[in-house]
This record gives sequence, structure tokens and C-alpha cells, in this order.
Amino acid sequence: MTELLYLTDSYKKECVSKILSCVQKGNSWEIILEKTIFYPQGGGQPSDKGFIVGKKGKAVVKHVRMMEEDVVHECSVEGMFDKGEEVTCTIDWERRYENMKRHTAGHILHEAVMQVAPYLKPIKADHGDKPYIEYQGSIPMTETSQIEREANAIVKADKEIITTFVSLKELQERSSFVPEHLPKHKPLRIVEINGYNPISDGGTQIATTKEVEEITITSIENTEESVRVYYEIKSHEQKRSDSLQDTISSQTFISELIELEQKANQKPSLTEVSVDELKKLSQSMRSVPKEDKQRVGIVLNQVKQSLEALLSKKAKESGIVNEDWMDVTAPGIRPPVGHLHIVTQAIEEITEIFNKLGFTRVRHPEVDWDWYAFEALNMPKNHPARDEWETFLINHTPGVKEVHTPGVRNIVLTPHTSNGQVREMEKGILPIRMINIAKCYRRQIDVSHTPMFHQFEGLYIDKNVSIGHLKGVLDYFAKAFFGPDRKTRIRPFHFQFTEPSFEVDISCGICNGKGCRLCKEGWLELGGAGMVHPVVLANGRIDTTFYNGFAFGWGVERCFMMKSGTQLDDIRVLYGNDVRFLEQF
Ligand code: DAH
Repeated sequence: MTELLYLTDSYKKECVSKILSCVQKGNSWEIILEKTIFYPQGGGQPSDKGFIVGKKGKAVVKHVRMMEEDVVHECSVEGMFDKGEEVTCTIDWERRYENMKRHTAGHILHEAVMQVAPYLKPIKADHGDKPYIEYQGSIPMTETSQIEREANAIVKADKEIITTFVSLKELQERSSFVPEHLPKHKPLRIVEINGYNPISDGGTQIATTKEVEEITITSIENTEESVRVYYEIKSHEQKRSDSLQDTISSQTFISELIELEQKANQKPSLTEVSVDELKKLSQSMRSVPKEDKQRVGIVLNQVKQSLEALLSKKAKESGIVNEDWMDVTAPGIRPPVGHLHIVTQAIEEITEIFNKLGFTRVRHPEVDWDWYAFEALNMPKNHPARDEWETFLINHTPGVKEVHTPGVRNIVLTPHTSNGQVREMEKGILPIRMINIAKCYRRQIDVSHTPMFHQFEGLYIDKNVSIGHLKGVLDYFAKAFFGPDRKTRIRPFHFQFTEPSFEVDISCGICNGKGCRLCKEGWLELGGAGMVHPVVLANGRIDTTFYNGFAFGWGVERCFMMKSGTQLDDIRVLYGNDVRFLEQF
């Protein structure tokens, strides 16, 4: 038998009790407690709502009913409850208080009706959402305001509500109204508004009539045999809207939160939906009355945390994340690492190879006098050979002196690295073993030309230098740069600054000199070379009676492409700065 705490104290909002049983019935759970503050629906008063919290479980109480001697709490449950376990019960106080006031208001209204129409016999009452008292007989509509006045007079009189437990005999003697079916398992009780007639009642009551504030008769509906007096009290919601505050009941809010948590727990695959719902609920925090904010905030945070934990738990289960496990062998996330441009890589390699042969890399101007680029190389002004080099001319400041050819004042973007030859000779240090790698510029742009490119220029000046030396150097470079199987050959050619002049070919890496689709005859053209022309040596003030030498000049980009087998169908991609292309090398 459940002890009914609300009968002795209607103002008790919380209590500690013990679980007598907790069983599942369909979708819902039924909890029976040793004692309860939850009012079970009956006597025209709706049931309480609220929650029951244990060590391992939480229950949202949705409806409460009497079952024989027990009070059954119909709940949704999260976690579990053990039999005999101590739990904390909290009722939705705002709902209860509203119901209590409506209930007492019904009694007050009844007294008022009795004053105006004492001939009426009460049949039943409902103190729920649309409260009314039903009487046998009828009331003229004209009496409405009279009844209302009487009722509010009792409200204002601040009468005490007295409840007394009685025996059946006592009840029958004292009560002005004894319902047909008295509850079998509830203690009998009578309630009286101080100074008025006692009535049998087992519901929850407020302490004094003043708490009702105001009673309004919304309608009086006469039927053939009976009449219903519908009434309303100034409700919690009304009061809130009266004060223009859009607030929500903190108990309702807490119940919603707990319910949300329970729903989230039941879902087989928790989605962000619950999080969204929680977000929405969190926004309602604004509408919670100030005094309740702290209490509600605590629950809100707890639910938030448990939802988050639930989300990550479910994510782990579904294998989306596994925080507990770390693969220490997994490669880390490396920041992207750059590398030297492929042309720079080629320049470094070329430099190194020639270093081994005793050639030193030097730098000479990339913007130079016409003299070094052409004239000193045996190509006087207007010489047709110059046409080979589509040269950019620079407008230079008048007054800058050109020492070699007074009157001719052209400055050019070096169209080849051969300008370094005479400049190197001018240093006056012999023998010369120079490798000049620099940018060259020509007015040409198409799939096989960029206006800026690179050349490497070799110059060897010493006593008794022969074509054999040249061939040896070329072979060495070809094998070091392109691979040990590669050979070079020299073919007679013509350059103004070498005599004899050659074009250097390298054996094709694909067919090994046999001839294929790429090379056609087994050889690929590398660049020019030759024995330095005596005029050039003279321009460099080299004593040609003792000294001679060879020179060669090839394109870096061309060599790079031949080495890597990169059949670039457009040489311009080298300078297009497209990282996707560059990172391949
Ligand atoms: N300077 C020439 C050019 O740009 C290449 C060249 C040919 C350089 C023969 C040389 C050489 O040193 O001897 O086409």
C-alpha cells in the first residue's frame, strides 16, 4: 500500500521514497513506491507529473493512477531502478499548484452556488483543463454574476481550508455531499472552507482561499436534467502573459530535457537531431523564470553532457572515431615540403659534373653590352649571323661609356651565355676552365621556346688544347649527366666564334643509337661547340701564339628534358609555376 504524502501536505514538492516495483508495460514503465507525493488522477483532479531519480536511473512520470492500494507511476525510464532502492521524487510543482487552486476554486464555487441556488444537488466535478461542477436541476443565466460575486467574496475573505481524516461514519454524518463511489483504498478525508460545509474529498488543496486570486464563471450550460457551471481561475499562464513575460514552467522544461535524454538513449543510431532539439531547448532557457534559472541550468548542463557523451559513444561504436585507440605506426601529417625547381636542380648537377673536371662556375652579366654578346664574338654590327639570336635591346642611359666600341652603345639581355667568354678572358688569368651558367633571353615564345631560358657555357683556354680534349670533356659530361651508356659525336657546323665549329649529338637513350621514332637516326642534338676563334681570343687579349682553347654552349632546359625522358609537349610548363607539374620531379 502506497502512503499518500500529498494528503497530509499538498505543498510537498519533493520526497525521498523507496522503489517497491518497477515493471515494463508496453512502451512505458510502471513504478510503485513505498510512499508518494504524486497525486493519482481522481476526484476530478488530474494526475501529477514530474520525475523520479535513482542512482542508476531516471524516470519521467507522465501519468499517475490508483491501482487498488497502490499508486502506479507511469513513466518513461532511462537506466534502471533496483527494488528497494531509495529514489528522489519531484513533482511538476507549477502543474500541481495550478490543479490545487482549480480544485479548491471548485469547492469555493460550490459554496457560492449553494448560496444562490441551494436547491441544486451536486453530481460531479472536473477540475482539469476545462473545469466545471455539474448539478441536478438548473440555474437561470441571470444568476451567473451573483454566483461569481459570492465566490470571489469567499476568495477575498482568505478562508482557511481545513482537511480532516475521518471514519466512514463520521464522513456520512458531517459531509454535505458523499459521492456514490468512495475510494476503497484511500483514507477518507473531509475538507471544509472555514465556516462552510465540510465535503468528502481526497484531492490536494491550497491552504487558504486567497491563493485562488479570482474565479470567473465562463459559462453556465443547462441541459434537460442538469446544469454545468464552467469556471476558470487566473492561471499561471495568464499571470505570466499578464506580466508580459513569455516564460515556461521550469518543471516542464526539466521534464522535456530529461525526456529528450531518454529518447536519445533509446535511438539505435543517435543523430544530430537530438543535439538540435537540445539547442532549441537551450534557447528556451531565456523563458525560464529568473528564480528557476540556476536549477534548470544545472539539469540543462547535465543533459548536454550526457548527450555529448552519448554521441561520441555511438560514434565510437559505429567506428567513426575511436579515441581510446591510437595507431602509433600511422604516418603523421607532414607539412608539404617544397624542393628546388627542376631547372635549378639541373644547374646544380651540371655545375658539380664540371667541377670534377676542374671547371669553375662563374657568373657574368645577364644584361650586357652588345660587344660581349656579339662583336667580341666575331659578329660585327649588322652581321647576318646575329639574326639567329632574336635579341632584346635595352634602352640604356646616355652617357654610360662602352669602352670597347665607341659610338656603338647597345645593351642587350644576353641571348646566350657566350658573352661570358671574352669577359672571362679579360680577367687575364690563365689557364681558363670556366662554366658559365646563366639566364638567356630571346624574343621567342612557343611550345619549344620561352623568352627566358638557361644555358651553360664551357670555356677551356690553355696551351695546346685540341679537339680531342673537347671530345673528352663532352663525353665525360654526357656519361655523368645522361648515363654511362651514352656517347657523343661531333658534327661539323658553323658559328662565327669558333673555328672549327661543331654540333654535338648524344646517342639516343631509347634505342641506344640504333634509330627510333624519337631520334630517327640514333642521335639527338645537344648544342654547339668548337675551337675558340682567334679573333675572339684576341678580343680577350689572349696571346694566341701560346694559347688556344675550346668552347661549348648548351641549353639547360633541353638537357634536362633529354635526361629525364620528359617529352614536354610544351616547354612553357617549366615556368608556369603549376605545383602539380613541378612536384613530380
Ligand atoms: N652560343 C651558342 C648559341 O647560343 C651556342 C654555342 C655554340 C656556344 C658554339 C659555344 C660554341 O660556346 O662554341 O646557340
